[in-house]
Amino acid sequence: MTLIEKIQHHSAVVGVVGLGYVGLPLAVLQAKTGFHVVGLDDTVEKVDAINQGNNYISDVDDDELREMVKTKRLWATTDFQELRQCDVILICVPTPLTPNKEPDISAITKVANNIATLVRPNILVVLESTTYPGTTEDVLLPLLTQSGLKVGENLFLAFSPERVDPGNETFRTSNTFKLVGGVTSPCGAMARTFYEQSITKIFQVSSARVAELTKVFENVFRSVNIALVNELAILCDRMEVDVFEVIDAASTKNFGFMPFYPGPGVGGHCIPLDPYYLAWKSKEYDLHTRFIELAGEINENMPYFVVSKLQRILNRRRQCVKGANILVLGVTYKADIGDSRQSPATKVMELLQKEEALLSYVDPYAPELLLNSIAYKSQELSPVLLAECDCALILTAHSVFDYNMIVQHAPVVFDTRNATRHTTSKKDHVASLST
Ligand SMILES: NC(=O)c1ccc[n+]([C@@H]2O[C@H](COP(=O)([O-])OP(=O)(O)OC[C@H]3O[C@@H](n4cnc5c(N)ncnc54)[C@H](O)[C@@H]3O)[C@@H](O)[C@H]2O)c1
Repeated sequence: MTLIEKIQHHSAVVGVVGLGYVGLPLAVLQAKTGFHVVGLDDTVEKVDAINQGNNYISDVDDDELREMVKTKRLWATTDFQELRQCDVILICVPTPLTPNKEPDISAITKVANNIATLVRPNILVVLESTTYPGTTEDVLLPLLTQSGLKVGENLFLAFSPERVDPGNETFRTSNTFKLVGGVTSPCGAMARTFYEQSITKIFQVSSARVAELTKVFENVFRSVNIALVNELAILCDRMEVDVFEVIDAASTKNFGFMPFYPGPGVGGHCIPLDPYYLAWKSKEYDLHTRFIELAGEINENMPYFVVSKLQRILNRRRQCVKGANILVLGVTYKADIGDSRQSPATKVMELLQKEEALLSYVDPYAPELLLNSIAYKSQELSPVLLAECDCALILTAHSVFDYNMIVQHAPVVFDTRNATRHTTSKKDHVASLST
């Protein structure tokens, strides 16, 4: 059977490397489609959890994972040799930044070096990790063709970015447009055929480079627009105008405007990182991407803005941050999910630690938190807890929080997310980012 026939008959074996927020949902989706899936991760605990049918990613359905493992459609391993049996390999490993905000693609190169030792003719390899334009063709291709395989003939190589929006109930991997770009045209066509088996909407672009650039551009777009509205919030704070009222009013224009909302900063694995991948690559072309740098600067300043505004709020009550009981509400990087990576809330908390505030927090999605070697445990939200603090600081607007209770019982509320807008009680003691 040819590779394309194996894909169309779902008899191809699919390997997914990196079983995190992107890789595990993808592995389950492919197993549900009917492929046999080998998941590979270098973290033993994750591999053991999967093989016992235990889910650790909120976007994955517990029962579906258990069913796929029970029926042997999906199993996990730490042993790269197990990828020898694969006809398709999807790479979903992390792409962080170095401390100096330069791309760190060492996980991709490590995985590619391992795959290079075991690739055989008629295999499809797709990179799904977000990265700078050129990674698939300039970094992966030379490694994977070392053994003499011919790209577009017996090795098919493509880039297909992941667009998962964690916690989004409407748009999942299966119904979100999937971009596909091959290193050659047959590579793109092979990758397209593969994804068509599980995903309804595929958009094929002319090259892997276009797909890579599109993915980072999407995140630059968000970063720049969030920075614009964050800057507006700082201006509104000086003007004593409600920034959220301005955004709501502008949103009544039904063309040429799209609302973005300010907050204590940007978080997660994408928006704070990905734009810098493009900024770094641009320098190779004598171009300094000023929008990216400026957006990064404004967004990274927001936690500092929040802390200085908190100082002002306490100052008006003849208090200072040092020794104040600050109750942080919400520490994950966005509402209703359990991911605290790069969360602006944790950055705010670290800044408050430096000012010697007495910190506690409530977040049902993050039961424990370690910040600068200090371990915190999430508290139970209650009228007593609220009444005992000097300020309730809302940093992530989880929908499970009882905002009426928060406004009613906390002596002061600093709501950086406009989460208390629908509360009914008196709000003289509630400050927002700009009022
Ligand atoms: N999380 C998101 O919302 C999201 C959305 C779109 C794109 N992305 C991109 O997808 C990629 C993966 O992100 P993620 O959020 O899934 O990361 P993650 O940290 O949740 O998962 C990555 C997994 O890869 C494993 N891993 C790391 N190095 C490995 C190696 N050498 N061999 C085998 N396994 C290894 C880790 O143990 C981890 O389980 C990144 O490039 C990210 O930018 C993420």
